[in-house]
Amino acid sequence: MNNDKIKSVSPHVLPSLPYADNALAPVISANTIGFHYGKHHKGYVDNLNKLVAGTEFADLPLENIITETAGKADKTAIFNNAAQTWNHTFYWCSLRPKGGGGPPAGLKQKIEASFGTLDACKKELATAAMTQFGSGWAWLVLHGDKLKVVKTGNADVPMTTGMKPLLTIDVWEHAYYLDYQNRRTDYVNAVLDMLIHWDFVAENLG
Ligand SMILES: [Fe+2]
Repeated sequence: MNNDKIKSVSPHVLPSLPYADNALAPVISANTIGFHYGKHHKGYVDNLNKLVAGTEFADLPLENIITETAGKADKTAIFNNAAQTWNHTFYWCSLRPKGGGGPPAGLKQKIEASFGTLDACKKELATAAMTQFGSGWAWLVLHGDKLKVVKTGNADVPMTTGMKPLLTIDVWEHAYYLDYQNRRTDYVNAVLDMLIHWDFVAENLG
């Protein structure tokens, strides 16, 4: 799935997971996926559908709901649930069983032009993930013609500030607490080394 395929319209549906619920184990267990995908992600989709029903957002694609409600105090609930719906779909696609390793050649060159080495890029992602205080997300984004690492709090998404998301790591506690308790670093490093779907990241460069 790439960005274009996340343009769902209401009623928004929970997209199927791109792999079995135990396929990311032992890095992310089936138990975590059961709660994270089956309860949290589903909850955001269900809440979004309730919140937009009968409003001017009812017939808008998901990405438009996000950009049109971002920063509007009276639309916070819609923004949060729309953005969390999008973020989670994008997160599942950013991962794959037996991921990690090296990116395809074009993306690798771009990473080296922006960070020097793949390791330096992964270190920046790990630092962003670790230093995001409380709930949020670490992202690799395209900004102009450069790759950058950014972090966002709560439901926030990079596209509302002109950046194109390429990959994300969920650092809400619900993403890792059952498997790692408070050890966010261990979760983030394991995801970076073993689960990143570099072909998906390269596709998003588009
Ligand atoms: Fe999450």
